Amino acid sequence: MLKKITTAASVIALCALTACGSGSGGAGTGSSGDTITMGFAQVGAESGWRTANTKSVQDEAKAAGIDLKFSDAQQKQENQIKAIRSYIQQKVKVIAFSPVVETGWDTVLLEAKRANIPVILTDRAIDSDDTSLYKTFLGSDFVEEGRKAGDWMVANATGPTNVVELQGTTGAAPAIDRKKGFEEKIASKPDIKIVASQTGDFTRSGGKQVMEAFLKSQPKIDVVYAHNDDMGLGAIEAIKAAGKVPGKDIKIITVDAVKDGMTALSNGEINFIVECNPLLGKQLMDLAKKVVKGEEVPARVVTEEGTFTQEQAKAALPKRQY
Ligand code: AHR
Repeated sequence: MLKKITTAASVIALCALTACGSGSGGAGTGSSGDTITMGFAQVGAESGWRTANTKSVQDEAKAAGIDLKFSDAQQKQENQIKAIRSYIQQKVKVIAFSPVVETGWDTVLLEAKRANIPVILTDRAIDSDDTSLYKTFLGSDFVEEGRKAGDWMVANATGPTNVVELQGTTGAAPAIDRKKGFEEKIASKPDIKIVASQTGDFTRSGGKQVMEAFLKSQPKIDVVYAHNDDMGLGAIEAIKAAGKVPGKDIKIITVDAVKDGMTALSNGEINFIVECNPLLGKQLMDLAKKVVKGEEVPARVVTEEGTFTQEQAKAALPKRQY
């Protein structure tokens, strides 16, 4: 019995690292007939946003008749690189991935290019001078998301305001860009200061831990700016445990607008959410089909997004898909 469990666990671990197929094509087969085989290297399962994004990719691959080979990198770049190499070996028709961090992709993407396998960046960008390494980038404008958060901060600050920032994964595009956009906007109001800023790695537990430390080290915190809902939700737990009221004693701004975040916003525990849409699956499959046929695609496809106040969250929540 123990041996069986150990063997099953080893297979699951191996699948996570070597990108086992989740579609109809068997492992090791690039494609059968006209079926497009896509290798998708996901970041991980760090947040509600990511769970919704994974579901969207899997559902839409199925709907489009695309054979999806899916891997979860557990937020580690080396796992994503291994998965991409495995997809190259399997001769998939197209590779899509959401890079954990911005830098360090040139070598593996050059290998894909030499193997004539087109690459699509989805959700997050890479930092490379060589734009020939990928066909298109589908995802949000994270700097703009940061700006929207900054606009709300500027419009709602009354007097000197101390902000603590819960950053996303260090080196990840949304962490870099959301910080940049927010700072750009608050620069016009010297009264608003970021007094502490640290990564919570886009997870609820990370947000809680960092917020606990901020509450101990910072004498006055007026606002939390969390780069995603999950870290904001972790911060809420820490604020409550410290005997303060989230949304009142300490205001909270987050990014994403997943169901749990929207629920906290409509309950008054979060004050403002900037939307980041995870439902990229349909557009990704459409782009993949074109890229495989050798058709031209736009170099950049930006996702449309809005923002939510507490009142807007109450109205939107019943129809929220994720
Ligand atoms: O890249 C998108 C970000 O990654 C989402 O905002 C966050 O929740 C996720 O983990």
